[in-house]
Amino acid sequence: MKKRVFSGMRPTGKLHLGNYVGALENWVLMQEEYDCIFGIVDYHALTSEYKNVEFVHDSVLQIAIDWLSSGLDPEKAIMMVQSMVPEHAELHLLLSMIVPIPWLERVPTYKEQIEQLHEKDLSTYGFLGYPLLQAADILIYKGDLVPVGEDQVAHIELSREIARRFNHLYGVVFPEPEAKLTQVSRLPGTDGRKMSKSYGNEIQLSENPQKIQKKIMSMITDPARKRRTDPGNPEICPVFDYHKIFTESSGREWVAQGCRTAGIGCTDCKELLLKGMVPVVEPLHEKRVNLERKPGDVKEILFEGTRKARRIAKQTIQEVRQAMKLDYSSED
Ligand code: TRP
Ligand code: SF4
Repeated sequence: MKKRVFSGMRPTGKLHLGNYVGALENWVLMQEEYDCIFGIVDYHALTSEYKNVEFVHDSVLQIAIDWLSSGLDPEKAIMMVQSMVPEHAELHLLLSMIVPIPWLERVPTYKEQIEQLHEKDLSTYGFLGYPLLQAADILIYKGDLVPVGEDQVAHIELSREIARRFNHLYGVVFPEPEAKLTQVSRLPGTDGRKMSKSYGNEIQLSENPQKIQKKIMSMITDPARKRRTDPGNPEICPVFDYHKIFTESSGREWVAQGCRTAGIGCTDCKELLLKGMVPVVEPLHEKRVNLERKPGDVKEILFEGTRKARRIAKQTIQEVRQAMKLDYSSED
């Protein structure tokens, strides 16, 4: 039996290149080997975007298009919409009976986000329950492996603790899920800071290669290289982070060496980078343009995936109800 994989992304706008190299690319590989379910987790988006419901709604289709153009294949992996499988919500509620509040309050992302995102009021019940909802997403499919970044490890740890507590109280229903860390290939934004919509330094997957080229050519470099003759340090240059992902090692060495000795200019450096990037982003963009013309087909893929996911979720929730003595209908 193949191991079950679950992971999710929140529908809060189109995906960027960092999402692709950090997560999606890995999902595309995993669909070959595992029994994968990928969720567009709109309930999770609402925990912080409850004032922007339109935006969350519109983002669902965009994420689906990004996923498909990146190579997720409905023949190999299930793609689903979280809120269309209400068993996620039911399991979340039932698990809320057994999760001690301090387990949620001590999740590091909780306080951090409340402090950082003070333009949003996150002092809600839903936001505190965010990682429990995530646990429900994973457990409703009896997920074994959860591909996520470093920042999500505490959430997966909570999912394990919840699974353990449930199994202990009511009998074994859930496997304990494990995080499968995506090796961190961090792609900074065009200004060298973390790639993020709020900084306006993103390269979106939906952008055409010409636009991406423009952004790369105007990207920030090592500030020490004011003139072509000034040597630089590739290790502090965000352009070099891109080379680590898109350029093979001989080219990368040529860049590092040329940068340190002022043997090449930043323009030469960026041109080489584009040689590695364009073959990745161009086919992706072409697929995207095609899919954008067929939103009905994309939705049908999501609906079909959601139907498959729901069949699995219903099975689990039945076991949960039985374990928790909520299976009244089977008595008559
Ligand atoms: N919290 C995850 C993130 O911000 C998204 C997510 C929701 C998720 N449910 C999940 C990831 C279940 C893995 C498994 O990236
Ligand atoms: Fe950055 Fe390349 Fe310029 Fe060096 S040569 S500073 S790595 S852009």
